[in-house]
Amino acid sequence: MNYYFINGPALTEVTERYTRLTGTPEMPPLWALGYHQCRWSYYPDSRVRELAAAFREKQIPCDALYLDIDYMDDYRVFTWDEELFPDPEGLIRDLKEQGFETIVMINPGVKVDNDYELYRQGRDKGYFCTRPDGEMVIAPVWPPECAFPDFTNPEVRAWWGGLYEDLMARKKVSGIWNDMNEPAVFEVESKTFPNHVRHDFDGHPCSHKKAHNIYGMQMARASLEGMKKQNPDKRPFLLTRANFAGGQRYAALWTGDNIATWDHLRLASEQSIRLSISGYSFVGSDVGGFVEKPSAELFTRWLQLAIFHPLFRNHTMGYNVDGAAAVKKEEVELRRAQSDTDQEPWVFGDDHTAINRSMIELRYRLLHYLYTAFYHYVQQGTPILRPLSYYDQSDEQALSQKGPFLFGDDILVAPVLEPGTTALEVYFPEGGWYDFRTGERYEGRQTHQVEAPLEAIPFFVRAGAVLPLREVMQHTQERALQQLELNVYYGEGETTSRLYEDAGEGYDYESGAYRLTTFRQQGQSDRLSLSAEREGDYELAYAEVEVTILGLPFEPSAVHVDGRRVPLEKTADGDYTLYLSDPDFKEVDIK
Ligand code: GLC
Repeated sequence: MNYYFINGPALTEVTERYTRLTGTPEMPPLWALGYHQCRWSYYPDSRVRELAAAFREKQIPCDALYLDIDYMDDYRVFTWDEELFPDPEGLIRDLKEQGFETIVMINPGVKVDNDYELYRQGRDKGYFCTRPDGEMVIAPVWPPECAFPDFTNPEVRAWWGGLYEDLMARKKVSGIWNDMNEPAVFEVESKTFPNHVRHDFDGHPCSHKKAHNIYGMQMARASLEGMKKQNPDKRPFLLTRANFAGGQRYAALWTGDNIATWDHLRLASEQSIRLSISGYSFVGSDVGGFVEKPSAELFTRWLQLAIFHPLFRNHTMGYNVDGAAAVKKEEVELRRAQSDTDQEPWVFGDDHTAINRSMIELRYRLLHYLYTAFYHYVQQGTPILRPLSYYDQSDEQALSQKGPFLFGDDILVAPVLEPGTTALEVYFPEGGWYDFRTGERYEGRQTHQVEAPLEAIPFFVRAGAVLPLREVMQHTQERALQQLELNVYYGEGETTSRLYEDAGEGYDYESGAYRLTTFRQQGQSDRLSLSAEREGDYELAYAEVEVTILGLPFEPSAVHVDGRRVPLEKTADGDYTLYLSDPDFKEVDIK
């Protein structure tokens, strides 16, 4: 064991240093922060097309659709079932035209089959894991007999990475989903390899006892490196189930097979926060629960929580499993017809569809803010999700808070984790906090009762923050942004907020095509000034900024933007709005 001692002393700094020590990922493509729809499994291709059409027709934003194991030919990785998916390129292209990225599953287990080229290659080159006597490890996963690449061998990783050529460069899938990479093995009590299995371990041979925890991470590493090689100009999106410390460099992570219960909703929140403060911010859970079907209420509450999880993916098992064994496709279809297992946001009745839609829209409104938090995570290792103790560790009350958490620097979320909730008692740390929905301000270091009707998740913006809001689109690339909204939440004294923008795809940001704005707010009882300092030369698509000032403690008589007087409108809620035709404004002064 190697021990590292990290003296923050602030908790946030402990996580930041630990994260920089183990590594940070690169910026994800913006679409990967949109809403993802998954299930086990959408097939045949016509059903995938119907799904895509349904999202657009119902006007529920969505950026990514997944193909789970059934798209493969008898669970042979890197193949397609030609009956179910006769024209994968055509399907992927058409989905892309409608603004959907396609993500497909790739598992480590390679089907033992002498007629399968991939299996023959791995076997002949000695790339599969072996036992001490040199025999290959053969075990059941989805195919009844699988061999397992030894991802701890650099040569095997390079081989595996190369296998993505067809999927990435020709079929143009946008993302890869690595699953079962613990590695999971069926029909044994340990559910994984025995300890005696041998690994190359980058030229330092060892047993599985030593390699177990990094097996999944090395698979993710091999996949990511291969994906990047195939499409060097595109930012890769990889999702993995197994990983290890440092694996945040390679892949986003979901918390695995959960159950549609309120307990698991709470777990989803706690696990995501804990992963996040462990250096792993690109996380989320199967929204709605994987096993069983959630009630309409549970689904909506889960969706509301997941708005604030960097990975926002709805996934369910359907009726695909009996015990540990996969069920035949005909049986799945039969059960599907007999009992409703669908979990798309519109299957819970019209009232819920409307709420679910507005919640997903809210995620799209907040994308600039999340993207900025992601940027700080990448740059500094700053966790995107944090417990309240990270906000003020001298506050004993904050230390004991279990439900509420911070999302980025400026938002406090109070998720609803119990059925029948209409109000919550929320403890607020130091400072002032504005309810995003009502604009009401709550003072910190106190507990307040806040409303939590089904159609809303209570969340609060820090006094002094400048919150960027995007217009709602059906997917992140639907059209260029026309306008950005900035909500300025009045706060006393000097406060700062940041906004990061770039093309959301590609690597031009590495050579300066980004824009980092630091807003400084000075709040006095009779004056508010806001300055903006910018870095980077990314050219914005929008030319207009709508600024809304909330919580101003005085009646303003004059507003100047960069020395010029401009009109200020009072809104029905008593806030003030001004329109700026120059997104490069430097100073807003309100008296
Ligand atoms: C595993 C995964 C799950 C997936 C299923 C079928 O249970 O965790 O997400 O749907 O396998 O591939």
